[in-house]
Amino acid sequence: MPDEKTEKITIPFLQAKKEKNEKIVAITAYDFPIAKIVDESGIDLILVGDSLGMVVLGYENTIPVTMEDMIHHTKPVVRASKRALVVGDMPYFSFHLSNKESVFNASRFLKEAGASAVKVEGASKKRLKLIESLVEAEIPVMGHVGLTPQSIYHFGKFKVRGKEVEEAKKIIQGALSLEKAGVFSVVLECIPMELAGIITERLKIPTIGIGAGPYCDGQILVFHDLVGFSNGYLPKFVKIYADINELISRAIKEYINDVKKEKFPDSDHSYHMKSKKIKELINGG
Ligand code: KIV
Repeated sequence: MPDEKTEKITIPFLQAKKEKNEKIVAITAYDFPIAKIVDESGIDLILVGDSLGMVVLGYENTIPVTMEDMIHHTKPVVRASKRALVVGDMPYFSFHLSNKESVFNASRFLKEAGASAVKVEGASKKRLKLIESLVEAEIPVMGHVGLTPQSIYHFGKFKVRGKEVEEAKKIIQGALSLEKAGVFSVVLECIPMELAGIITERLKIPTIGIGAGPYCDGQILVFHDLVGFSNGYLPKFVKIYADINELISRAIKEYINDVKKEKFPDSDHSYHMKSKKIKELINGG
């Protein structure tokens, strides 16, 4: 078992947390400096989520995110993470072609980017078969049910899933099938807390909730949302722990003002020549 502060988190360690009833804490990150802060703060799992598309790349949803985007952003997160388990999110259409191509794409997260696992949205029959192939190829997989953002055009909009009995049953079935297919954990996104509680009780593997209430085995939030660094709409489930937007905006305005008023750069923030050298320079030495 890893030491709480220093050793690398493993999948068996996360499983043991569920068994000991200890909460797993996860967050997203997409670059080196943020991943370093997050890792040093004691987070268990860092997801390089395809939410990258919305919070960093400025897209309206996650659909345009590519494999190259994901590999590019997973690499620095892995370099910064000395302790947390890093999971790479498989972007839209990276796992919808043949099994062979999908397994190859997943393997890139481990071989090229250095992640320890991948996350795959959905629990359709075809998806479950793919997950079995990934597990067979020694690629640990995190599942994801409830609101799966890559299905946005299918759903119509981002909203809570599983409020009605029929859909709730499908979500439970999806989570159970994912466990059977071999995932090590399942993200439950935007579902009623009561439904998340039922799933968490029925699964042997840990559930990680986002907008799924307190009964999950762990929680995940998008980094930019929780530190107030997001520009757009924030769902009800997000708790904002800091106001980074305000802090950065204040700093930039002060910088603009200082440059305009010639307060910056001052002598302290400049390099100097010795007076003897200046004289030599002026007098043509
Ligand atoms: O892409 C992402 O950040 C995610 C989390 C919301 C779980 O999938």
